[in-house]
Amino acid sequence: MRRPLVAGNWKMHGTRASVAELIEGLRCLALPGNIDVAVFPPCLFIPQVIDGLAGKSITVGAQNCAMQSQLGALTGEIAASQLADAGCSLVLVGHSERRLMLGEHDDLLCRKFAAAQVSGLVPLLCVGETLAQRDAGQALSVIKQQVGIVVERLGIDAFARAVLAYEPVWAIGSGLTASAQQAQDVHAAIRAQLAAENAAVAGTVRILYGGSVKAANAAELFGMPDIDGGLIGGASLNADEFGAICRAAGS
Ligand code: 13P
Repeated sequence: MRRPLVAGNWKMHGTRASVAELIEGLRCLALPGNIDVAVFPPCLFIPQVIDGLAGKSITVGAQNCAMQSQLGALTGEIAASQLADAGCSLVLVGHSERRLMLGEHDDLLCRKFAAAQVSGLVPLLCVGETLAQRDAGQALSVIKQQVGIVVERLGIDAFARAVLAYEPVWAIGSGLTASAQQAQDVHAAIRAQLAAENAAVAGTVRILYGGSVKAANAAELFGMPDIDGGLIGGASLNADEFGAICRAAGS
C-alpha cells in the first residue's frame, strides 16, 4: 500500500509576513497520521519555513536545484547539497512552468534529478501535456517520453527514491481539473511504463496528480487506484483549504 503524499507548491508567492501567517495556519492543522505532507516554498523562505514548522510533521522541499550537486561557480543557482544542508528533503524537477517558460529541457532535468539524489534529496519529477498535445491525441506519448528519458538516462532504480507528479499543463491554475478518470488513465499508463522495467519499483513509486486540485475535488481524485496524492498550487496557499485536501487524502 502506497502512503499518500500531499505537497503544496507555493510557486513564486509569499512575503516574509504572509509566509509567517501561512506557517501559523499550517501549525494549527490537525493532519491525518496516515499520509505524508510537504511544502515547497520559494527558496528565500526555506529556513523560515523549516524553523516555523519545527515539530510539525510537514517536510520542506525546494522548487528547483542546480544541475550539479557540488558547490561551485554557478551564479544564481542553489546546489541540491545546499538544500539538503538547509534541511530540505525533496526538490521539484521538471515543473511545466520551468520546462515551458524557462526552456528547461530533458537533458538538464535528468542532471537535476541525479544531482538531487546524489545529495540525498528525493526528486519529485513533474510531467504533463499541453492542451494542444492532448487535443492532438498525444497526451500519453508526450508523458511516456518525459518519463522515459529519465529511465533511459538514470535507470529504473532511480525511481525507487523518487516521486512523480502528473500535471496536465491545461489544468494548472486554470480551474480546469482533469476528470478523475482522465487522470487515472495517465497514472496507470505511467505505472505500466515503469512496471515494464521493474514491477517492484512501479508498485511502490508514488504518482501525484496536480492541476487545480481543491478540497471540493480532492477526494474523488485521490480515490482512484493509481493516484497517490496531490501536488497543490493555488489551494496550498490557504492553510485551511490545504488541510481539507490533506484530510481527503487521509480518508
Ligand atoms: P494549481 O493547483 O494552482 O493548478 O497548480 C498546480 C501546480 O502546478 C502544482 O505544482
